[in-house]
Amino acid sequence: RITGAIEVYARSIEILAAAETPPFEVLDQVEANEELRMRYRYLDLRRRPMQRALEQRARFVTAVRNYLAGHDFIDVETPVLTKSTPEGARDYLVPSRVNPGQFYALPQSPQLFKQLLMVAGMDRYYQIARCFRDEDLRADRQPEFTQIDIEMSFVEEKQVLDTVEGMVVHGLLEGFGITVETPFPRLTYADALRRYGSDKPDTRFGLELVDISEIAKRSAFGVFSGAIAAGGTVRGLCVPGQADNYSRKAIDALTKHVGEYGAKGLAWAKITGEGVTGSIAKFFEGDAGAELISAMGASPGDLLLFVADQEPVVLRALGELRLRLGNELGLRDPKVFRLCWVTNFPLFLRDDDGGWVSANHPFTAPVDWNLEDFSDPGAIEARAYDLTMNGWELGSGSIRIHRRVLQERVFSFLGISPEEQQSRFGFLLDAFRFGAPPHGGIAIGVDRIVTLASGMDSIRDVIAFPKTARATDLMCDAPSGVSAEQLADLHIRSTAPAGG
Ligand code: AMO
Ligand code: AMP
Repeated sequence: RITGAIEVYARSIEILAAAETPPFEVLDQVEANEELRMRYRYLDLRRRPMQRALEQRARFVTAVRNYLAGHDFIDVETPVLTKSTPEGARDYLVPSRVNPGQFYALPQSPQLFKQLLMVAGMDRYYQIARCFRDEDLRADRQPEFTQIDIEMSFVEEKQVLDTVEGMVVHGLLEGFGITVETPFPRLTYADALRRYGSDKPDTRFGLELVDISEIAKRSAFGVFSGAIAAGGTVRGLCVPGQADNYSRKAIDALTKHVGEYGAKGLAWAKITGEGVTGSIAKFFEGDAGAELISAMGASPGDLLLFVADQEPVVLRALGELRLRLGNELGLRDPKVFRLCWVTNFPLFLRDDDGGWVSANHPFTAPVDWNLEDFSDPGAIEARAYDLTMNGWELGSGSIRIHRRVLQERVFSFLGISPEEQQSRFGFLLDAFRFGAPPHGGIAIGVDRIVTLASGMDSIRDVIAFPKTARATDLMCDAPSGVSAEQLADLHIRSTAPAGG
């Protein structure tokens, strides 16, 4: 395929198809912008790195299928024209021509169907399933994407996690020649947040968060003691040996970075043989300084960085700062793969408006099968687990609720009225009346694991025909307008300006 190395002398030539000069040079290291490449995706896909990624993806999926089939899993297809399966995003809706005014929803995941397959006695289900979510797009999100969707009956967490570990190890080896260590380490959700400031920790490097609230409380530094007095926390990072490599300007850039995540500032100190220097030095002279140095595990030459605020802000800001420092210090080697389970999630989390939402989805089981008391929602523990790799969430799953009464209680707590429960999830609740086995499962994002394992930057690079950040396909120009007749057939009138 690579030109220039071989010269061919032809006796005769037949032109099979004429080729114009492509709008960009089809090189491994392409220079064209992504928009142009997306518009001519079939030319972009001629490039070797793109072909290699798709080949690896295919090998990975084949290996996963073989592994699961070899462990008695049955591949079952579930509908795409269906009823809403909520996973926290908006639905894509499809109008019904023969049922005026009614709509199908494209599945955000096969969640409800796979649970119903358990009620049907299928025991071990899997599907390489296409899912659809109308949500804000990023480098790791597409409006349609693919899951390895798994569900098992009569299992506890251990069987699901063991199955996934075996499958992922096999898939990474066969698809990419990558060997990873097993068992994958486990972190509780609380520990992940406490140590890494994230529920999808990048465990390729240390730089863990340190809680200095006890010291801060007694501190003469008003920002610190004030944050504690206001019910907040003060945590810091110790960056070994970097005191001299971070100028005031460089620290200003870090301060700006944490500001994007809500931090009101970034207190810093440099440790020398004499003690603490830097923005907070005057508050940490003598014993106070020695105490801080010891709490942070710091040595001369280290850089210390602190954020004081309410806990969610501090964790988020320092978690993001840690990742940035990891990048700047070259600690995030793309050739190293660190998988990690995050377990013991809460059942509910606060949403932006102060209400409660399912941390995972409303079908996740609490640890207590007889849960009745929802008075302290944040303290209810779920039987949910996530698989993470290098700071990305690869997959998410749980043991499910399989009893009608408990499912109804959870729905009710989430503010779903009995009528709405019946209209949205009646088929699931009905199914539970006929006896459902205890069951659980998981879904692993194919696009994400392939992106990381193939060393690409975005999941767009491992999807043959992806969409832009505005959910458009530039090549075939989708979405696009439709004729008035089509709309009339569907009993739909658009309120958008003509052509828009
Ligand atoms: P969840 O919503 O966490 O769980 O999704 C599981 C995995 O699917 C991938 N994923 C995505 N990949 C690309 N683009 C997206 N927009 C996108 N959204 C999700 C991620 C994610 O970890 N039904 C449950 C699973 C279960 O409980 O069994 C579910 O869908 O890798
Ligand atoms: P100031 O007292 O506002 O001049 O801030 C002194 C130092 O504390 C500066 O380095 C600020 O970036 C830092 N700072 C201010 N607010 C916070 C905060 N909430 N958490 C951590 N550092 C802060």
